[in-house]
Order: sequence, then structure tokens, then C-alpha cells
Amino acid sequence: MEEPTVGKGEARLCARLGLSAEESAALLAAMRAGASSRSAAVLTPRAPQGYVPPFPCAEGAVYPWLPPRVFLPRPGEEKPTAYEDYRAGMYYMLDLSSCWESAALAAVPPPERSLDLCAAPGGKTMLLAARHPLQYHMANEVNPGRRMTLRKNVEGCGLPNTEVMGLRPDQWARSGELFDLVLADAPCSGQSLLCKGVKNPGCLSASMVNGNAKRQRGIMLAATACVRPGGHLLYSTCTYDPEENEKVMAYVLRRVPGWRAVELPQLAAFRSRLADFPAYRLLPMQGCGAGGFCCLLQREV
Ligand SMILES: C[S@@+](CC[C@H](N)C(=O)[O-])C[C@H]1O[C@@H](n2cnc3c(N)ncnc32)[C@H](O)[C@@H]1O
Repeated sequence: MEEPTVGKGEARLCARLGLSAEESAALLAAMRAGASSRSAAVLTPRAPQGYVPPFPCAEGAVYPWLPPRVFLPRPGEEKPTAYEDYRAGMYYMLDLSSCWESAALAAVPPPERSLDLCAAPGGKTMLLAARHPLQYHMANEVNPGRRMTLRKNVEGCGLPNTEVMGLRPDQWARSGELFDLVLADAPCSGQSLLCKGVKNPGCLSASMVNGNAKRQRGIMLAATACVRPGGHLLYSTCTYDPEENEKVMAYVLRRVPGWRAVELPQLAAFRSRLADFPAYRLLPMQGCGAGGFCCLLQREV
């Protein structure tokens, strides 16, 4: 069969990622096939201790980085969203790569005060709640429509001590250093959507990538101003381009004194070759969902 031609955006992405010919072919094949989603179910506070979801799941600790209270439906099984327990908010469904992006929370002490700056529809907040008790949590979303979905999910899944807010990052920054932990799961070009079979025109274009990188730098500068001394800031995206990932983190580390990137031994196999500080990337051909990026920063005491 004839090989499909490689587009300009695809070629630029593979070059920026420094991929070998073989790795490039695998990434492009995954983006074209759109079949890399792997669903995961995270139990919510509504699920009692010892609860097991009603659908057939992979058993045991499948991956060392898998957060607690996460179950992986067996591929090809009946839809996990078809059960009454799902409607009752006992578990929340997301892509496995979202779970991977939150693995860094294992390295963070239980926060007294936490902020999810870009929270809708609520996946990262659910993953935080699965890892640490929420003591005082702000789930923030600037987009009003998405904020309604976030509120529905927060209430439906019974998240305690959680307030849904709608401030811009610069408004949070003006409120001061209030939080032990801030999650910045930033809006991005969403290149991994292609691997889930979702159309995302323009996501490989330089203008889309650069526009998102500019917004991400602004969000991150604001986010650093919200963290108490000694606290943590977790940055994540569901896109591949280094401009929106390693380069955003390098910019923050250069611009804001007193921060370091934290080494995450559980994610050692995913360490980015594109940064001289600890940063981690997942690509779709690694079999853990559509892919993403994460980097945990800690502020000096
Ligand atoms: C990747 S999504 C968040 C996904 C969510 N954390 C989850 O796990 O379910 C990024 C969110 O950032 C919001 N957003 C867009 N522009 C923003 C901005 N300038 N500042 C903060 N958030 C923004 C979007 O509306 C979107 O809901």
C-alpha cells in the first residue's frame, strides 16, 4: 500500500520532538488511526472503601505510576458509562493519559489548600481527590459553559470541601500565595485529540502552537504567584509540541526565581530528552492512552 504523504505540520512536530524515523512513523500512524484512547475509571468519594466497579477490569497494579482508586476497564467490555453506579457518581471516566499526567501527585504532601486553575470538566480534581483528602479545594474554570459541567461533576461525585470558581489566573495571582498545591492543566493545541479520533483542524500549525504557548506562559506566571513557599505547582497538557511543554517550563524556571523541577522516579521511563530538568512526556505509541506532558515544580521554602 502507498505511504500517506507527511504534512508540513506533522514533519515539523516530529523534527521538534527529535524522533527517529521509526518513532515518527509510529506517532503519525497513531495520529491518523485515532484509536489510542484507553479509558480509566477513577473512584469518587461516593464510592465506599473496598468498592469495585461493576464492569470487568484489569486487576492489580497494572502500572507503577497508576494513581490509587483507578480501575482500567477490560478493552472491548460493555460501556462503563452504561451502569447505574456511574450515574450515581461512584466513578468518573477519563483517558488513561490523564491518570499518567497526575502521577506526580504521589510526590506531593496532602495539601491543606489546593487550587485547580483550569479545572473543567473536573478530571484532575477527581484524581487529586483519589490521592489526597480535599481539605479546602478551589475548582476553577474561566469558561461559563464548562464551569456548569464542572459544577455538575463536583456535586454529582460528592467532592467535599470544594468550591467551584470562575476567576482568571491573573485574578488568582492578585489574591496572593494561598495554596500548597496548584494544578495548571493548561488549555493547549490538543494534538493528542487526533489520537482519540477527534478532529482538531490546525492543531499542528505554528500559529496554533505559538498562540497556546503564549497563553500557557501567562497562566504559569500567574500560577506561581498563588503558591506558598515550599508548595507545589503541577503543569500538564494533552499536546506533544515542545513549544507548549518543555519550553513553557524552561521559561518559567528562567523568569521566576526560587523554583525547581522535581524528579519523579515513577515516571523515569518517560523522562523528556528535550529538557535539562525533570519533565515527562507520554506518546500514544507507548500504549497508555493518547499521550501528554507533565512537570512538577516546587517553590523554595
Ligand atoms: C485541558 S482543559 C482542563 C481539563 C481538566 N483539568 C480536566 O482534567 O478535566 C483546559 C481548561 O482551561 C480553560 N481555559 C481556557 N483559557 C484559559 C485561560 N486563559 N486561563 C485559565 N484557563 C483557561 C479551558 O476552558 C479548559 O476548560
